[in-house]
Amino acid sequence: MTAAATAANAASPPFVDFRHVWLAYEEQDSFAVEDITLSIAAGEFVAIVGPSGCGKSTFMKLATGLKPPTRGEIDVGGARVTRTLKIAGMAFQAPTLLPWRTTLDNVLLPLEIVEPYRSTFKRDRDRYAARAKALLATVGLEGYEDKFPWQLSGGMQQRASICRALVHQPKMLLLDEPFGALDAFTREELWCVLRDLWAAQRFTVVLVTHDLREAVFLADTVYVMSKRPGRILGRRAIDLPRPRDLEVTYTDHFTDLVHEMRERIGMVRKGG
Ligand SMILES: Nc1ncnc2c1ncn2[C@@H]1O[C@H](COP(=O)(O)OP(=O)(O)OP(=O)(O)O)[C@@H](O)[C@H]1O
Ligand SMILES: [Mg+2]
Repeated sequence: MTAAATAANAASPPFVDFRHVWLAYEEQDSFAVEDITLSIAAGEFVAIVGPSGCGKSTFMKLATGLKPPTRGEIDVGGARVTRTLKIAGMAFQAPTLLPWRTTLDNVLLPLEIVEPYRSTFKRDRDRYAARAKALLATVGLEGYEDKFPWQLSGGMQQRASICRALVHQPKMLLLDEPFGALDAFTREELWCVLRDLWAAQRFTVVLVTHDLREAVFLADTVYVMSKRPGRILGRRAIDLPRPRDLEVTYTDHFTDLVHEMRERIGMVRKGG
């Protein structure tokens, strides 16, 4: 972590704060995640990596209040999480656009559903549509507003999903393997799209990924989780200077960081 970020951490309370969080899905189940304690500063970009089934998506459900913890406490934005948060936007591995809605109408969906936008949606639709179109333009989808999802490529659908996650200007963006289904070129293009959106708006990001290069390129901090029951095994501050360009992925320091992550995960597989 940079000196500036450390100072900011010390000065302000964490934006996301997990304290000794445990979760069993059903009363009789074993724990899916165990004793998770971590803090995320406002505006921090965090990546979570770990083997399949270790509880990464479970972490997301806990962070947004979709699942209450069995034990422990979770605060987001200075308040205890007791129900589903409105200040979060989410996007997932498979783009989940509704096929009968145009790109623009898909992006507008959260505003039709989430208060305080919902009650004024009809009246303010033009203003919201302008906001959605501006977002679509920043991800390179200008001119595709009126196309249906099946008229877009996978990468374009995923861009639209990210716009939909951001249209209500959430303070926190949760991304669960958002680029997993894309080819390597499109994936790296979207890393840059996300990097630029984050640099401009500075929402807090939690990115779950299997791709260690993706984690190191994008994140300020990477957490490594153990296999089930998921625990946080390691935390690594990524000290690559910003702004980061794809060129950085060809440097020795970048490769060293990725190797270090891979070794930690290797230890998880053998020892954990
Ligand atoms: N709704 C559920 N009910 C019961 N068990 C669940 C539920 N969702 C997940 N689990 C279990 O909790 C554990 C963690 O699941 P989770 O989906 O968080 O893993 P993950 O790290 O996201 O995996 P992947 O990388 O494959 O997406 C797994 O053992 C899974 O079977
Ligand atoms: Mg998952």
